[in-house]
Amino acid sequence: MTRLVVISNRVTVPRSRQKPQAGGLAVAISGALAEYGGIWFGWDGKTCHRPPTTVHTVENGNIVYATTPLTQAEHGQYYAGFSNEVLWPVCHFMLGSMDFWPEYRAGYEATNERFADLLLPLLQGDELIWVHDYHLVPMARALRERGVQRPIGFFLHIPFPSFGLVRAMPGWRSWLRALAEYDLIGLQTPEDRRALETSLVHGLGARFVEGGVELEGHHVRTTAQPVGVEVDELAGAAARSSGTRRVQRLVQSLGPRDLIIGAERLDYSKGLPQRFDAYESLLAHHRERHGKTVFMQIASPSRENIQEYETLRELLESKAGHINGVYADFDWVPTRYMNKTFARESLLGFFRTARVGFVTPLRDGMNLVAKEFVAAQAPDDPGALVLSELAGAAAELESAILVNPFDTDGMGAALEQALSMPQEERRERWQHMIEVLRDNDLSAWRHRYLHDLEQAAADRRGHPRHPEGREPRDSSATFHLTPEDASRRLPGPAGERFVELWQDAGASVELYAPRGRDLQTPHARGEFYVGARGSATLRCAGSELPCEAGDLIFVPAGTAHHFVDHTDDFAVWVVFVPGAN
Ligand code: G6P
Repeated sequence: MTRLVVISNRVTVPRSRQKPQAGGLAVAISGALAEYGGIWFGWDGKTCHRPPTTVHTVENGNIVYATTPLTQAEHGQYYAGFSNEVLWPVCHFMLGSMDFWPEYRAGYEATNERFADLLLPLLQGDELIWVHDYHLVPMARALRERGVQRPIGFFLHIPFPSFGLVRAMPGWRSWLRALAEYDLIGLQTPEDRRALETSLVHGLGARFVEGGVELEGHHVRTTAQPVGVEVDELAGAAARSSGTRRVQRLVQSLGPRDLIIGAERLDYSKGLPQRFDAYESLLAHHRERHGKTVFMQIASPSRENIQEYETLRELLESKAGHINGVYADFDWVPTRYMNKTFARESLLGFFRTARVGFVTPLRDGMNLVAKEFVAAQAPDDPGALVLSELAGAAAELESAILVNPFDTDGMGAALEQALSMPQEERRERWQHMIEVLRDNDLSAWRHRYLHDLEQAAADRRGHPRHPEGREPRDSSATFHLTPEDASRRLPGPAGERFVELWQDAGASVELYAPRGRDLQTPHARGEFYVGARGSATLRCAGSELPCEAGDLIFVPAGTAHHFVDHTDDFAVWVVFVPGAN
């Protein structure tokens, strides 16, 4: 099996004295490396005065952990500055929180270059290189400049902003160009994928091709693959944790009261002030909940040297104090707010104890807390999940109670719905969610991504992308399209560019790929053909239409049509609108 080289800002070195890491990235990467073996390179979480010229390595089983501290200047400019005061707010649609300084950008580029210098001697020549997250976008360019020729993949764990937001970031062209150096870019959702491709097309003049875009002869493959969780492992840990003294103490302290729980990093993208307001709205509108409900919010300290985070901490303290001041009684405190980090096992036990998981980010790439909450529930009496529709996870967890995280009264009403939900309905919703999580667990995610990266590697070596006769069903290529949109194109067959399809969002459409066959399957009112590669002529409704890779052609369902004069490597993607009749 090909070894992996994983590069991420933070590295979790086993048996080190690091604080437990918040966020799902570390868990996702650890699993992939344990399976493939290789190197995990990045920051060790410490700062120093002068840049070290060598990396510190620790070998553990089949993994080498290679780390370096950041200088104080790098910490300020690359990590706190450009990564977290520029990219983080832009990617989370919060331009008002962006604080751009030219030295941040320079420090970001320079730190990526230094990382590349340190990594280079560790490369053996045949590994798959996988870079993670927004801190390290320039890494592929830095490695290419140092002569690395093999394919390099990137995965963005946070949302990709719309092109309008990208353009607000000084230096956006150079940042997008750096992204386009990768061979495969993975994103959490189809929406993020579309946003990335649109930015590359509109911002840099790339053109849409099968599975991604092409810029100046370089094929940038893109894929949408939501990060999952290890369902069984989490369920086991949650069940074990329920019996621990710590969780039992929580249970005893609650007595008969229902627990509403939230737990994440203290970050302005998580919608915490609105969440407190929503709980207050519940108490204001439902007198009968007084004394019977406890809202426990755990907000682990994060990025504490950034002013926005400090301001948020103060705001939350005052909101928690306000709710308790107004509503508490001699035998009941409505809100428990903790600004501290708990071990993952404890959190899972807390989740299993809760009646409601309250996860309401204003914007989130995925949100693994929502998935962990579901995985941690007891199957016979699961809690309900109230989830922001602006979290990537909402696309999969449709059976949660989905809320708008800016609508505090709406969220208060959703809490009431969750608290009063009958056990049977909770079970039904949970069953649906856990099945989705099982189908797309963490190992499925990494296998799909690494499969695509290996295909990109084959591409780069000039091999065919898909072995003959094995056209994969590509669940990542789900488009969004309304039936109305389909009917507007009815006068076809006329060539439509890919880009036009993507401007119309709506219902999901499924995608599959038979090879150059006659197709007369009236699955739905509309079918769409996207010439994937090569060229062909479509004979349909008495006329012939030449089509090429990247073309989108509407064919009314049930119309006899077939492809003629196609090149050997011709293949089409067939898109149909399920149930559009
Ligand atoms: C998010 C990011 C990760 C990051 C984590 C914790 O999940 O996607 O890349 O590591 O937050 O943030 P921190 O700044 O403490 O690394």
